[in-house]
Amino acid sequence: MNDQDALLRDLLDFAIATARDAGHLLQEHAAKKLQVSSKPDSSIVTNADLASEALILGRIRAKFPDDLIFAEESGRSSQIRRPGQYVWIVDPLDGTTNFANKYPFYCVSIGRCQVAEDGRLEPLIGVVYDPCRDRMYAAAKGQGAFVNGRKMAVAGPRDLARAFLVTGFYYTTGDRLHPEIVRFERVAQICSSIRRDGAAALDLALVAEGIYDAFWEHGLAVWDMAAGVLLVREAGGNVLNYESIDPFAYSLEGNGLLAGSRSACTSIAALLQT
Ligand code: IPD
Ligand code: CA
Ligand code: CA
Repeated sequence: MNDQDALLRDLLDFAIATARDAGHLLQEHAAKKLQVSSKPDSSIVTNADLASEALILGRIRAKFPDDLIFAEESGRSSQIRRPGQYVWIVDPLDGTTNFANKYPFYCVSIGRCQVAEDGRLEPLIGVVYDPCRDRMYAAAKGQGAFVNGRKMAVAGPRDLARAFLVTGFYYTTGDRLHPEIVRFERVAQICSSIRRDGAAALDLALVAEGIYDAFWEHGLAVWDMAAGVLLVREAGGNVLNYESIDPFAYSLEGNGLLAGSRSACTSIAALLQT
């Protein structure tokens, strides 16, 4: 292992320990009465989201005081960013609606990215922790993706009709929802096994694990995708911008993604085009 790999390994160990502790904190809150409030985008936030974020940000600030942070509940630590800088991307509880309704499908997602020359965020470390099943999904760039220490690979090629897929719909309703329902129907006319599980980061982890052949969703935020995208890439999968089939064009700060095995992405990309 060279110095760079050893550094990534240390970072990954830090992210894993932090995500696990945050996940355990979520489980403590799940056993108590939750305080739930609404956000402007019609989504909800609970005291568990806030407690998990406070734990994660406290750890990052203490260990990496020079790094930037972009977290769902508290926003950006700085509006300015320069090439080479490191940015932690945090979703302290992905799947809040599931969590608040006691549906056991939610996770903690932590990624560490570097700002590239063109300003894009390049994920270097990604961790998704599912506290309900005690599954730790972890990847470091160039070192593969693992679940509880076991190497993962995305699903092999198969006909779309036989694939097992997952999607999501943003909280918005009305005009912005309609095109996504149209896209869903196009895929559903070919493949009848489509789930909507409600936690994008965990959906991506299951794609990396080869359980789902592919996942697509419009309107995701960077914290939904940063860690999961690295998991999928390191498990040998493709990640595409929602409306572009060019794998080099993908941006974490775009408007969503299509991720999965090469064959599933090719078939679904053609159906998502407007
Ligand atoms: C949401 C979940 C959901 C997806 C939404 C996300 P949150 O994140 O990932 O599956 O459909 O687009 O915003 O609000 O539970 O962290
Ligand atoms: Ca989320
Ligand atoms: Ca969240």
